[in-house]
Amino acid sequence: MSIHDASRRLPVAPSHQPTQEITVSQNRIAVIVGSLRKDSFNRKLAHALMRMAPPDFVFEELPIADLPLYNQDDDATPAEPVRRLKASISAASGVMFVTPEYNRSMPSVLKNAIDHASRPYGQSAWAGKPAGVLGVSIGAIGTAMAQQHLRNVLAYLDMPTMGQPEVFLQAKDGLFDAQGDIAGGSRAFLQGWLDTYLDWVRKHS
Ligand code: FNR
Repeated sequence: MSIHDASRRLPVAPSHQPTQEITVSQNRIAVIVGSLRKDSFNRKLAHALMRMAPPDFVFEELPIADLPLYNQDDDATPAEPVRRLKASISAASGVMFVTPEYNRSMPSVLKNAIDHASRPYGQSAWAGKPAGVLGVSIGAIGTAMAQQHLRNVLAYLDMPTMGQPEVFLQAKDGLFDAQGDIAGGSRAFLQGWLDTYLDWVRKHS
């Protein structure tokens, strides 16, 4: 059951705002940031996008820093952070992945989270969840290789993943303003990406 189907009100605690209630008319988007870094550009990007969303969507960044390293021996007795991650994904209408590129692929912490929520076999939390993929890096190709590897994994996990527009951002002065919002020419482009992604979620959830 996705949140927007629910006939009751569910308490949630998005990481960017105080505890609130999701109403029946709201869709919930789970956000996974592929960096644990305190001053992560990708977390900044994710939270700037959250602030640009229309009121019928609620975003929640799902913590992945406290997940253990995935070990198939633990499938029958998942740790509490793993159960929490899977429950949050199951309750979401869509999943937005915002990730850096590490050595021309996705960071291991992101893959670890993906592997956790895909198991036990036949009980993946990801299947059918409409996905959006974007990222920012200091390199010129702006996470293109990381996103391509991630898309490969999401296809296997049966997640309908929006193909266009693509977002390859390079972290440069002026990308964010003093408040941490997207600045300059990137803002209109990213608003367009977000609007298109939320339509994608409406269509596929
Ligand atoms: C990087 N970085 C990087 N950048 C890039 O464009 N392509 C790459 O393949 C890599 N590889 C890479 C590996 C490792 C282990 C680290 C730590 C870094 C640089 C990366 O873009 C930069 O550190 C970003 O700031 C990471 O994103 P966050 O943490 O700011 O969100």
